[in-house]
Amino acid sequence: PPEHPRVLARLCEEFARTAGEHVRNRAGDHGGVAATKSSAVDVVTAVDTESEALLREMIARARPDDAVLGEEAGTSTGTSGLTWVLDPIDGTVNYLYGIPSYAVSVAVVAGDPDPAAWNQLAGCVHAVADGTTWTAARGEGAWRDGTRLGPRPEPPLAESLIGTGFGYDAAKRGRQGQVVARMLPSVRDIRRIGSAAIDLCLVADGRLDAFFENGLNPWDMAAGSLVITEAGGVVEDLDGGRPRREMTLAGPAGLVRELADLLRTCDAESV
Ligand code: IPD
Repeated sequence: PPEHPRVLARLCEEFARTAGEHVRNRAGDHGGVAATKSSAVDVVTAVDTESEALLREMIARARPDDAVLGEEAGTSTGTSGLTWVLDPIDGTVNYLYGIPSYAVSVAVVAGDPDPAAWNQLAGCVHAVADGTTWTAARGEGAWRDGTRLGPRPEPPLAESLIGTGFGYDAAKRGRQGQVVARMLPSVRDIRRIGSAAIDLCLVADGRLDAFFENGLNPWDMAAGSLVITEAGGVVEDLDGGRPRREMTLAGPAGLVRELADLLRTCDAESV
């Protein structure tokens, strides 16, 4: 059936790769000119807009009854109960600077497109610069370039490499930096890679042990968080509930609980 997660995952991948090709072809050609969104550091290039338009065109052709929620162009409604959640370039600042960690993220969710309520069916994160592609289909599994991903070992927190990210609001970034400063002595190290979608997939791969961020948008995590859960990990809020915009933790279950305890002692709830 066309709504089968595996069928949707194939579509997610096809669309993400096609948009990714456009993004790759335009790398270095976006003139370095970026408009700003929520704050002076929150940038959008013309290529973000083009990539999302391309994704929306492909979705409208293949799945005309589905809704779409995209980072740049907002929501368009549908009648099928399914919503495509799009990040046309996750890691826009890396893209702008020519740092290769940026991705096209495409997911399909049933019901509410809010992370606290959604039911993700399929997703794909396509890292444009090196072509690495993670896909996931609900109940079927997760793959990196066709290799199935499984549960990861759980190192103790003190030996864990933890990914995180920062929002674009200046005051909030200051508080996020303080949390990182407080937790740094208790972990192996911290990485701020600059694309939450890629961070989540690196956790599924075991190249980061766990990840947390306060303030992620649905499009940053829709595909990547399904890759983690289908690979046997968890994506939760600080209290072990469903991930929320306010706080997303991801990784192997035991390590995520340890990380949550540490984050509480670092005052992460007040960010
Ligand atoms: C951002 C990246 C970044 C994360 C921010 C996101 P964008 O997405 O994923 O790693 O820390 O919270 O907004 O703006 O590059 O699509």
